[in-house]
Amino acid sequence: MLILNKTARVFFKPSKRKVDGFLRSFNFHPGILFLHKIVLGIETSCDDTAAAVVDETGNVLGEAIHSQTEVHLKTGGIIPPVAQQLHRENIQRIVQEALCASGISPSELSAIATTIKPGLALSLGVGLSFSLQLVDQLKKPFIPIHHMEAHALTIRLINKVEFPFLVLLISGGHCLLALVRGVSDFLLLGKSLDIAPGDMLDKVARRLSLIKHPECSTMSGGKAIEHLAKQGNRFHFDINPPMQRAKNCDFSFSGLQHVIDKIIMQKEKEEGIEKGQILSSAADIAAAVQHTTACHIAKRTHRAILFCKQRDLLSQSNAVLVVSGGVASNLYIRRALEIVTNATQCTLLCPPPRLCTDNGIMIAW
Ligand code: KG4
Ligand code: ZN
Repeated sequence: MLILNKTARVFFKPSKRKVDGFLRSFNFHPGILFLHKIVLGIETSCDDTAAAVVDETGNVLGEAIHSQTEVHLKTGGIIPPVAQQLHRENIQRIVQEALCASGISPSELSAIATTIKPGLALSLGVGLSFSLQLVDQLKKPFIPIHHMEAHALTIRLINKVEFPFLVLLISGGHCLLALVRGVSDFLLLGKSLDIAPGDMLDKVARRLSLIKHPECSTMSGGKAIEHLAKQGNRFHFDINPPMQRAKNCDFSFSGLQHVIDKIIMQKEKEEGIEKGQILSSAADIAAAVQHTTACHIAKRTHRAILFCKQRDLLSQSNAVLVVSGGVASNLYIRRALEIVTNATQCTLLCPPPRLCTDNGIMIAW
């Protein structure tokens, strides 16, 4: 019946208004007929104000992003009202820049997609109220987006990964392992019981005062730890990875942070320096925390792969592990995960860094 009705519309002589509406829905340009929808994606869940225009085949037509990292580095962490104010100051410009770069006029959009959860309530609110105003003004459909689902599905923008696949999301705010069975069909296998790995690395970097280190002053905590770790010796400190006996795929990072805190205090005493000065052993500490983090993440991921394979939830020979989030750009952690995927006949896929971190493209896609 539905098909008949749809077909009937083509055969009955439609009014000019209906023809215009129909062509608009396919983004008609004089001389060109694009048979695909175009979506504006808006992301403000944490400390990035981002927007992008993407078509349904995955072409990124325009993108813009404003990062608040520099401000939050100075204050020693994200202060939600500050993040909210910065989103307010930038959202209009960022959306306009993304639209301008795409060459698409707002009336040609098929829908507006916006992150609605999870994230910082004050930050999310800015994106949501801006989007709802735009939706109302342009009379376009609104697509609410789950931030983690968007991260998990980003890989399909650049790689034809079939469902199901395993995803590991590791960033400053996220830490989870999930089986992705479909576009909105996820099986959560494990998550952090406390803080995310990026949050822990940021805290360690702050405690080590790496912002004062001439080579690391503009880097995020995690990146500074990776940079310094290359000059350090991880064997100088013997730290056990967390949750070695837990028979599940959950994670924990706050215990590790406390162990590192104690080591730093001890070293400050030994080296006779005040809190806030840079330890001579900072690189060794960075190497040790990075190594322990990598071991923990790799071991939990190994368990998840074995669990899925034993229960035939993942292909025995063609299983795929997708790793995303800011911490996924850490090459040492990637190498640890490579060891796991090689040993379990899995393929390891990571989106490029700009798609690993928060962005508007993944929301539009
Ligand atoms: O995905 P993201 O941009 O934002 C969210 O947290 O959602 O990730 C940022 C986090 C920060 O905690 C940062 O320290 C960490 O990712 N990060 C890294 C590296 N680059 C960024 N952690 C380890 N190694 C890196 N190279
Ligand atoms: Zn994120």
